[in-house]
Amino acid sequence: MIKRVLVTGGAGFIGSHIVADLCEKGYEPIVLDNFSNSSPKIIPVLEKICSKKLELVQIDIKDKEKLFNFFKSASVDAVIHLAAYKAVGESVEKPLKYYENNISGLVNLLLAMQEHKVKNFIFSSSATVYGDAKVVPIPENSPISAANPYGRTKLMSEEILKDTAFSDKDLSIIALRYFNPIGAHKSADIGELPSGIPNNLFPYIAQVALGKLPHLNVFGNDYDTPDGTCIRDYIHILDIASGHTAALEKIASGFKGFDVYNLGTGIGYSVLDIVNAFKKASGIDLPVKPAARRAGDVPRSCANPDKANKELNWKAKYNLEEMCKDGWAWYKKHPEGFV
Ligand code: UD1
Repeated sequence: MIKRVLVTGGAGFIGSHIVADLCEKGYEPIVLDNFSNSSPKIIPVLEKICSKKLELVQIDIKDKEKLFNFFKSASVDAVIHLAAYKAVGESVEKPLKYYENNISGLVNLLLAMQEHKVKNFIFSSSATVYGDAKVVPIPENSPISAANPYGRTKLMSEEILKDTAFSDKDLSIIALRYFNPIGAHKSADIGELPSGIPNNLFPYIAQVALGKLPHLNVFGNDYDTPDGTCIRDYIHILDIASGHTAALEKIASGFKGFDVYNLGTGIGYSVLDIVNAFKKASGIDLPVKPAARRAGDVPRSCANPDKANKELNWKAKYNLEEMCKDGWAWYKKHPEGFV
């Protein structure tokens, strides 16, 4: 039976929503984080949402010794691994930082699990591994590639996990390829906490709406799409979270080996669609300016979610209106994050 679930990166945007979902579904999450891209102030907030005290381990996954020590006494049934760096631009400037954290960190974790016979693992992968896919909506068997070191760490991690699962037939490993998670918890007390100027669209829009940034730069308006701006598959963070409990259930029902699933809605929206939906949800008029294309952006990225729908018995249930409403509610209530 899977009960005690270690969530690495459990204090982050995606991790905290997974922890809340695990609590709601009767699991016992253990939050592991080094707070390099999150705040310890989230812990009491999460405890309030979960109505219980949480087990917290402040360890850096690069620290093999501490990680091994933790596993010695933790009786972990499954690991959900999110702790990784994710800024594309920074990964180009500091590739070794990314390989050390995202790859060595993963290997440390797998070694600690091997030593202590923990057999169940869920990995946070990304739609970035599809690059500029020929077939959109994108099925899992599309060719995969990477255009930058960050993407390569996701690709390599999946390879490492496949090899590891092949070497031990008792292992159950599922990689989830996230499309574009936005939105926030219904309490509006946890959400995405960008440090500095956000790279991603939704947090950037929120900063403009809060008056912290003057306008949104729309990167490219001459793509081969209906309105000329890029299309993405935005998915509510609560749906991303429930994808993980669905994967845990698949493992609990006897799945062994390695498999990958897309977590997306299957519906694509352009940058301007998001701007308009945000305006409607917030009632705020958003200043927007056309800007040059951003290097590395693909025109269209949208999931074919059929495999997850069927095999994980999971389906995204929130629409764009709710994503914008819930995301904005968080930023409006906590404009400075956790203070
Ligand atoms: C980006 C990363 C991806 C990573 C994901 C999660 C790139 C090229 N891709 O995905 O590898 O897995 O974040 O961290 O960085 N946009 C604007 N103005 C802005 C910000 C974004 O027009 O200020 C546009 C982008 O050009 C894109 C869309 O909004 O068309 C979504 O961008 P973003 O939220 O950064 O997500 P991805 O590019 O899909």
